[in-house]
Amino acid sequence: MGDLYRFGISLEKPLIDSFDRHIEGLSYKSRSEAIRDLIREELVRKQCTEGGTVAGAIVMTYDHHKRELVNLLLDIQHDFQTTIISTQHVHLDHHHCLEILAVKGRASDVETLANTLKVQVGVKHLSLSISSATE
Ligand code: NI
Repeated sequence: MGDLYRFGISLEKPLIDSFDRHIEGLSYKSRSEAIRDLIREELVRKQCTEGGTVAGAIVMTYDHHKRELVNLLLDIQHDFQTTIISTQHVHLDHHHCLEILAVKGRASDVETLANTLKVQVGVKHLSLSISSATE
């Protein structure tokens, strides 16, 4: 972390009381840390909407017995070889696989990849978690 910059914020009392109760439930050690996270989340959201570079993970489960599904998922991943930086495959049970794809690239490419994988028949669940690629 760089040099700290301190500034004051004026808020209505009910709003800050409600925020304090909220962050207490999340076990934040300080209001500053909670506000820092809110700012970071907002900046990542901005990167996504403006087509900036993001990093993140796609987590999905699928039934590998579904006809041709594994080949199809591999073909899609090869089409996004510059976006996918790492993959991990776990055999969950006789039928199901868990795959974690670490991704980095244009937000639109990451979202297209996630959506393309998600709609394939046999993919049981897919979630995309986006983080900042820069800070
Ligand atoms: Ni497997």
